[in-house]
Amino acid sequence: MEGGGAYNRSSRVQAAGLAPAIALFEEAAALVPLAHESHAISIADYGCSEGHNSMAPISAALRTLRPRVGSERAVMVFHTDLPENDFGGLFQTLSVDPDSYLRSDSAAFTSVIGRSFYEQLLPSNSVTLGWSSWSVQWLSRAPAAIPDQVQVAYSQDKAVRDAFARQAAEDWRTFLVHRASELRNGGRLVVLTMALDEVGNFGYQPLLEAIYGSLRQMVETGLIRAEELHRMVIPTVGRGAKDLAAPFDDLGRSAELAIEHLEVFSGEDRIWAEFNANGDANAFGTQWAAFSRASVFPTLASALDDPRQGSRVAGFIDRLQAEVASRLAKSPSEMLIPLAKMVVLKG
Ligand SMILES: C[S@@+](CC[C@H](N)C(=O)[O-])C[C@H]1O[C@@H](n2cnc3c(N)ncnc32)[C@H](O)[C@@H]1O
Repeated sequence: MEGGGAYNRSSRVQAAGLAPAIALFEEAAALVPLAHESHAISIADYGCSEGHNSMAPISAALRTLRPRVGSERAVMVFHTDLPENDFGGLFQTLSVDPDSYLRSDSAAFTSVIGRSFYEQLLPSNSVTLGWSSWSVQWLSRAPAAIPDQVQVAYSQDKAVRDAFARQAAEDWRTFLVHRASELRNGGRLVVLTMALDEVGNFGYQPLLEAIYGSLRQMVETGLIRAEELHRMVIPTVGRGAKDLAAPFDDLGRSAELAIEHLEVFSGEDRIWAEFNANGDANAFGTQWAAFSRASVFPTLASALDDPRQGSRVAGFIDRLQAEVASRLAKSPSEMLIPLAKMVVLKG
């Protein structure tokens, strides 16, 4: 993600998809067993970025837990992300965001972990509630270059698509195995993630076409080299309901994990709704380009020959943002946003 508060500012698309998962997180907080009165209750947030979108779910869980445990029982909230995440931005959010749960709950305490969620991050049997939104679609690595797109969902190359599907299956399983270790018995994990709809559609097609078209144009005008574009991959995947359920047969037996709820649904395209209300095509293009910049342009820029060459990286990102905005403004259309929400129970 882009740092410096950019993700917090440009993650309205993600925020719009959160509400149905927050309702599930509240239900989970009402159901989890809360024995051991002297122990702190642990909530883990997997893939927090700069934190703004974590404030609503964590506050909702705290509001549900408080009538059950009283105002003084300590609740530890562990925010986790990759080591290179903008954790400074997260600390700012916790301290100044009007929705920060630290402002409303004096027995809530924060801790931050900079490690991949494809590892065990917390002690075994210690987590009461887990939350992860818009994060597990990021693979641990890109298993192949994509010859004809930057997002595998729109590649015509079957071997590449298969390689990503294998990586996606392996990563999802790894993620669940570690959460199974961390969760207490009766603990719940709520996941919101990019998905494939019932006909296998990943969505965001106009946006991804605009991004790839802009990159090809940058090659033609000599702004980037063909080899650099060839290395550019957004290592995210959508998983269908079947993919998300696949590991549970054997994991259910060995790690005592079960699906309590699993549903693929359509996220609301708020940028399109706004365009319908005001007819401002430039604002439509600008907002989707800002969303892409904050979420995926730094990943694309990391494929440049020298990604530490600050001025070239900044120029590349600015130019890509402007080109994507202008392409989308020429013919605005609604983005399909397939999402999955699920509740996983241990025990
Ligand atoms: C789109 S942001 C989601 C932020 C926030 N949870 C939300 O709902 O808007 C995805 C986050 O997942 C993080 N992420 C990706 N792969 C990860 C991994 N292997 N371990 C931990 N975090 C990861 C990224 O660094 C990024 O901050």
